[in-house]
Amino acid sequence: MTKHQGRHFLQIPGPSPVPDRVLRAMDMPVIDHRSSEFSELAKAVFEGSRKIFKTSGPVIIFPSSGTGAWEAAIVNTLSPGDKVLMVETGHFATLWRQMAARWGIEVDFMPGDWRHGAEPAAIEARLAQDSSHAIKAVMVVHNETSTGVTSRVGDIRTAMDKVGHPALLLVDTISSLGSIDYRHDEWKVDVSVSCSQKGFMLPPGLGFNAISEKARAAAKTNKMPRSYWDWEEMLKPNAAGFFPYTPATNLLYGLREAIAMLFEEGLEAVFARHKRLATATRAAVAHWGLEVLCLEPAEYSPVLTAVLMPPGHDADQFRKTVLDNYNMSLGSGLSKLSGKVFRIGHLGECNELTLLGALTGVEMGLSLAGVPHRAGGVAAAMTVLEERTQSNVSAQLKVISN
Ligand SMILES: Cc1ncc(COP(=O)(O)O)c(C=O)c1O
Repeated sequence: MTKHQGRHFLQIPGPSPVPDRVLRAMDMPVIDHRSSEFSELAKAVFEGSRKIFKTSGPVIIFPSSGTGAWEAAIVNTLSPGDKVLMVETGHFATLWRQMAARWGIEVDFMPGDWRHGAEPAAIEARLAQDSSHAIKAVMVVHNETSTGVTSRVGDIRTAMDKVGHPALLLVDTISSLGSIDYRHDEWKVDVSVSCSQKGFMLPPGLGFNAISEKARAAAKTNKMPRSYWDWEEMLKPNAAGFFPYTPATNLLYGLREAIAMLFEEGLEAVFARHKRLATATRAAVAHWGLEVLCLEPAEYSPVLTAVLMPPGHDADQFRKTVLDNYNMSLGSGLSKLSGKVFRIGHLGECNELTLLGALTGVEMGLSLAGVPHRAGGVAAAMTVLEERTQSNVSAQLKVISN
């Protein structure tokens, strides 16, 4: 293996790079998780997490990956034999569906082409037919990390309300939270599922469930066996800043720091930065003459861009060329997209120059791997980024001249 100098460019759509500040915050001696010092830390991260999910309700933090938090959402709200509605937006929606099926849930899986988000009108039509209210939950992935396509959660809630359907709304916010505008309370989401290694800019290891009162009530009567994931077992000690089992103490130090960073920048500024970087990335892709997988501009992901390889070229071979030569990891195509797309992550600890470095690596990789493209995509991205800088400069000059 070639030894490279300088930092590895981790441009996969999560785990995302961990800021030095967060790494330093975690570089602490492990403390007693039954001490008052720990309880202060836990209370601070519960409070901060609530603000990120935009909820006044409880947020549970499991020592787990996102998949564990998916399972927690299912086993706390549903019963074997329940029917749910899901949409095939991509690889992660498919995996969540498989998990639900393993728990004995009957999944009505609305087919999709992996290039569009969940269609609110189609959900509305399906729910309108369900006059007996057999569907107990609608489960959607907000940002489908395998395709770079977002779903409009607010519009899905509106569609559910329009037909007056009482199903719970369960949303996977794993690669959207802290990067894309998300409103648990306003959109009346019942369970928002997330984890640490994406917009929170932490290493993997924390899983989140933000839960509504309606979801908590469902958990009191549902019939699914559970132990580790049981919300009530967690919520009792959480109220005093404790856990029913050993928490991921040092990740929680990191979480406190990451939340502080998100608020110092301002959530709206964080979301705008992600959109700007995504727009610049798409400008580069268009200039190269390559195709973005997402077909609906309103659904472009601010977090990642999935790029289709021209026919006859293998995306994994291209990613290997980039890794071997420029020390950069790009996301692979998952399941049916394997070898067909590569994914550029532009989330979390990513700014204009990080992105331009990443796009330079892609453009040089395209040349080296002999993939047909038009040179100059990086310059096209620079133009997008400079436009924003220019408007900032003019605003500053205006303030000075006033
Ligand atoms: C949208 C989405 N859901 C679920 C998962 C699974 O999360 P984890 O790998 O942390 O279990 C991922 C992982 O990338 C994801 O992107």
